[in-house]
Amino acid sequence: MSKSAIRHARPEDMEAIATLNIAAFGGPDEAGIVRQLADDGKSLVSLVALEDEEIVGHIQFFPVLVDGRDIAAGLGPMSVAPDRQRKGIGRKLIIAGMPLMEREGRGLVFVLGHTDYYPYFGFSPQVAERYEAPWSGPAFMGIELRLDTPRTGKLTYPKAFTQTA
Ligand SMILES: CC(C)(COP(=O)(O)OP(=O)(O)OC[C@H]1O[C@@H](n2cnc3c(N)ncnc32)[C@H](O)[C@@H]1OP(=O)(O)O)[C@@H](O)C(=O)NCCC(=O)NCCS
Repeated sequence: MSKSAIRHARPEDMEAIATLNIAAFGGPDEAGIVRQLADDGKSLVSLVALEDEEIVGHIQFFPVLVDGRDIAAGLGPMSVAPDRQRKGIGRKLIIAGMPLMEREGRGLVFVLGHTDYYPYFGFSPQVAERYEAPWSGPAFMGIELRLDTPRTGKLTYPKAFTQTA
């Protein structure tokens, strides 16, 4: 039986994380975002999923400002190795990561992604649409983690995203 684990990414994991992102997304854009977030000091939390010591999943969280206040987070990119998808690895990464955002005092988490995947974890477009953001539409979703966060405002993303948005 394979041994699985989730842990914080280490600097020496960057290459394997890039390879994983390229394989999962079929191109280099998301790997570039992960690298630039790290280079810019904008990686809040970066977790890897391991199977027998091999990196098979990755989830990235980064800071999002609400009206200039550093109180929210973004989730993404997130990737699971193509031959390991739909086995619960993505779910484990989200379940491991969200409490860390709560512990960091982040009142909101936003994601731009599959409309039939993230709602499973409580993300909703109705939360995200209240904010002025670089993105809109059903794929732009949010989740509230605290009751004392502003219900409207302008979101600012790290430049790793806005350069490619
Ligand atoms: C999206 C992704 C990260 C999900 O990870 P995963 O390990 O495959 O997902 P899980 O096994 O945890 O899935 C949890 C549930 O969501 C479902 N699911 C998985 N991927 C889905 C998708 N793309 N769309 C809809 N539902 C999906 C699974 O069937 C599962 O439901 P079930 O337990 O009722 O069967 C992974 O498929 C991936 O890397 N995809 C390519 C890159 C990508 O699109 N990343 C996300 C960008 S927003």
